[in-house]
Amino acid sequence: MRKKIVAGNWKMNTTVAEGALLAKQICFLAREMETSAEIIVSPPFTHLESVGRILKEEKSHVALAAQNCASTESGAYTGEVSVNMLKELSCKYVILGHSERREYYGETNEILLKKINLVLAAGLHPIYCVGEKLEERESNRHFEVVASQIKEVLYKLRGVELANVVVAYEPVWAIGTGKTATSDQAEEMHAYIRRVIADKFSSYADQTPVLYGGSCKPSNAKELFAMENVDGGLIGGASLIAQDFAAIIKSF
Ligand code: 13P
Repeated sequence: MRKKIVAGNWKMNTTVAEGALLAKQICFLAREMETSAEIIVSPPFTHLESVGRILKEEKSHVALAAQNCASTESGAYTGEVSVNMLKELSCKYVILGHSERREYYGETNEILLKKINLVLAAGLHPIYCVGEKLEERESNRHFEVVASQIKEVLYKLRGVELANVVVAYEPVWAIGTGKTATSDQAEEMHAYIRRVIADKFSSYADQTPVLYGGSCKPSNAKELFAMENVDGGLIGGASLIAQDFAAIIKSF
């Protein structure tokens, strides 16, 4: 049985106070529900300490993720946050390679490989995002694009390391647009991702959680999560409303 995961990527939203309230609401709702899914919240860096404290105080099983980390260990890198700093704040996961990071901050597969290696070396789990842009899908290059994002990064790891990686498929055209991949489109790509991973890591591919991200909301989560190769979701907008996030978690 593969692990099921629902992770909320808050992106650059909420103040510290709003984030604390949201975390408390999520802990409350998480306590009320029975779910086999691991629940993760990923607030901005500035909120990690307070949200982490709330998750502990509320004795919730909600795990903490950062949205990024530096590609170097420490030193003179103004404005960067190292993986060891995140570990100290009880982060279990680090989201890496989100399309917004690739697009707006020039993160390449090469940089992402450095980050993944640091995250794994620190004993944390990367949530590695892949996904094609609209023009890439329209020109039928979506499989090729996603395969290269996997091969240029995950293929460079050892199998035992891959066992600690979560993959998230986020078609860029579905992020924040209200457009969702149909459950068939999601399943087709998730199955493909698993096959590409299996080509290199045959004994690990079956265990790797592959999450779907891109306008996943209470109204479509059930259908997406019912797909054989969809192991959960990486949720943006809908994770900022505790009730919606909880409804998505309950969709398993
Ligand atoms: P939305 O759910 O807002 O489309 O965002 C998805 C996403 O980018 C999660 O990382």
